[in-house]
Amino acid sequence: MGKARHFISFDDLTKDEIYHIMTRAAALKAERARGQYLRPHLGGRGLGMIFNKNSTRTRVSFECAITELGGHAVVLSENQTQFSRGEPISHSARVLSRYLAALVIRTYAQSSLDDLARHGSIPIVNALTDEGHPCQVLTDIFTIREKFPDQPLEKISVAWVGDGNNMAASWIQAAALLGFPLTLACPEGYEPEAALLAKAGQANPKIKLLRDPKAAAVGALAVNTDVWASMGQEQEQQVRARAFKNFLVDSALMARAEPGAIFLHCLPAHPGEEVTEEVLESPASVIFDQAENRLHAQKALLEFLVPKL
Ligand code: CP
Ligand code: NVA
Repeated sequence: MGKARHFISFDDLTKDEIYHIMTRAAALKAERARGQYLRPHLGGRGLGMIFNKNSTRTRVSFECAITELGGHAVVLSENQTQFSRGEPISHSARVLSRYLAALVIRTYAQSSLDDLARHGSIPIVNALTDEGHPCQVLTDIFTIREKFPDQPLEKISVAWVGDGNNMAASWIQAAALLGFPLTLACPEGYEPEAALLAKAGQANPKIKLLRDPKAAAVGALAVNTDVWASMGQEQEQQVRARAFKNFLVDSALMARAEPGAIFLHCLPAHPGEEVTEEVLESPASVIFDQAENRLHAQKALLEFLVPKL
């Protein structure tokens, strides 16, 4: 058996592989729209799912994805498994690899995923960590291409307004790999990691960090934001609300973007905080298409990562 492929970050895939997955996602979406839900590729196989943080979209889209691929989800809660009783991760990873086709995990430290990948022999999929949310950004890029089918991705400017968080980090890694222009505007003290930006900037000089959110929107065809306090940062909510007060995405900010620009948010959103209700509900908003596309993109991802038996 070959070495397992993972999707812990965009570093795990090549540009060609990302395009292949997006092409398959479009085909699976079209088939599903014709009523062909079931693809037997993963017939009978189990997808492990560990969620140490809350989730609606990721949890449900992965569970539906594996079912539609002919397999089934095995939901593993930390408390009800031996994970919380100190079983070595090197043992758990090898045990789970004997049963499951792949393991999807949402947790805090990304090093936990690296440990699982190092010791196990099945694909490990990042369902969000403090350091990244690659499945969401893969889907968002698929959604952008769906909305602008005639434009090469390299020509589509993406703006990120707000926290230099896990989502921003995955956007930076994706821009480095795929070569599209990315302009981030983050408040002082809430920027993405300097080392990440420096490395990405070497691969793609069109990745820029600004302070002014309105300036970041200029020229953008896709304007993105996210909550100001991510999961695990709830106690910082008030301090962050002050630091981010000029980073609201409203109609005035959207008006700075290119005509026809779309608005993206991974959700859940706080209407009236990081984005106005007006923008969320505007024709520019593609938030529910993004949410739907998680399913199609993750079916294509699982199909790619899990070798056929
Ligand atoms: N966007 C996203 O990952 O949503 P959930 O937290 O609901 O999974
Ligand atoms: N940055 C957010 C994304 C939620 C999908 C968080 O980590 O809570």
